[in-house]
Amino acid sequence: MVRLILLSFSGAVPIRNAIPEVFRSDESVESSQPPAEKRVTRPAFRGPVHYGRLALQSRYLLSPLAGFTTLPFRRIVRRIGGVGLATTDLVNARALLTRNERTMQMVETHPEDRPFAVQIFGSEPDVMADAARLLVELGVDTIDINMGCPVNRIAGAGAGAGMMCNTTSTLRLAQTVVEAVTVPVTIKMRLGWDAENLTAPFFAREFEKIGVAAVAIHGRTREQGFSGSVSLPGIRAVVEAVEQIPVVGNGDIRSVSDAARMIRETGCHAVSIGRAALANPWIFRQLVEWETTGDFAPAGSFDERLSLMLFQYSFLEERFGAERGLVLFRKMAHWYLKGMRVRKKLRGEFQSVCTLQDLSEIMERIRTEGPVDGNRTGVLSDVEIAVPRGPVDKW
Ligand SMILES: Cc1cc2nc3c(=O)[nH]c(=O)nc-3n(C[C@H](O)[C@H](O)[C@H](O)COP(=O)(O)O)c2cc1C
Repeated sequence: MVRLILLSFSGAVPIRNAIPEVFRSDESVESSQPPAEKRVTRPAFRGPVHYGRLALQSRYLLSPLAGFTTLPFRRIVRRIGGVGLATTDLVNARALLTRNERTMQMVETHPEDRPFAVQIFGSEPDVMADAARLLVELGVDTIDINMGCPVNRIAGAGAGAGMMCNTTSTLRLAQTVVEAVTVPVTIKMRLGWDAENLTAPFFAREFEKIGVAAVAIHGRTREQGFSGSVSLPGIRAVVEAVEQIPVVGNGDIRSVSDAARMIRETGCHAVSIGRAALANPWIFRQLVEWETTGDFAPAGSFDERLSLMLFQYSFLEERFGAERGLVLFRKMAHWYLKGMRVRKKLRGEFQSVCTLQDLSEIMERIRTEGPVDGNRTGVLSDVEIAVPRGPVDKW
């Protein structure tokens, strides 16, 4: 029997056990393994990144991915190292004020998960400001406003990317939140609503004037959804529009060389990484190693990935107890094991795991058998994160 990783953990561990419906899909798309990287030339890096008085440990940030970047996952990337800041999934400001149980779970953190940002969304300045005050009482280090979510339920109600359509009310909302709290407030947005309305440089400049501490730019418009490619010139225009505040470049970074290109071509101060962090949670550590030494170690192996899974389980057990922890873990494990190319029958058997003994036994069998293609890298080569498809107006 394999020994489960037994470590002493303290503090509360929350878990969002459901992926929002809009992002939920069983569809998996073939994607190629990022090619093994040789030496990647380092660009001219900006100085250390600060959000106001908050100094970030690195310029490599975890981008929020609703349903995925939960506390157990954030603790994993923190354990591996290299992450400058991790943010929760987007949280409804109104739901936060009602202290809705599931919402409160979304904003739980842990000493290992610092500094810690909560991302809120909403369209009412006073509700957003009250939510921000509550978060400060709860001890968050920084608050992020979502101005990029493209789905109709949010953007259509004037929140998320919908904020890009109304200058006056958006600036008032941002100013109200900034003035409500003492912690830094940041804003994550897209390039604009569509190709005719690339308003991110304008907003970034105005946000800086009212005290927003940093902006993150996903280099696509709302109209693009997740299609097409990220516009590096579009992000560069935002970098050029601000005086001092850090600009975080985001979108399609899957490797050290992608990050190098983003930094070189946009001049951004920091980058944030979403989907590639799920495929390769070692990427932040690789980036820091590369920035510091010019070189970096390969991502972890298949066996290390299995150990990370057990960590994730132990975080769930710590928060929810063994029984419920296992139920929650089965869902995540299904996704991981598929990406790790574990044989389908073994994946199916994993779904019947009911006890710690079952878990230990099946993990040992998976470890012994390895992936079907024999490739024992720990990078998930086979699974892409499902994103909504089709016309964005229907999302
Ligand atoms: C499944 C999924 C969930 C996401 N959830 C959020 C979210 O809660 N808040 C947010 O600002 N962006 C969200 N995003 C956008 C990402 O943070 C990021 O901007 C986008 O995926 C591009 O970066 P990447 O190519 O590194 O993933 C989400 C994206 C995906 C695919």
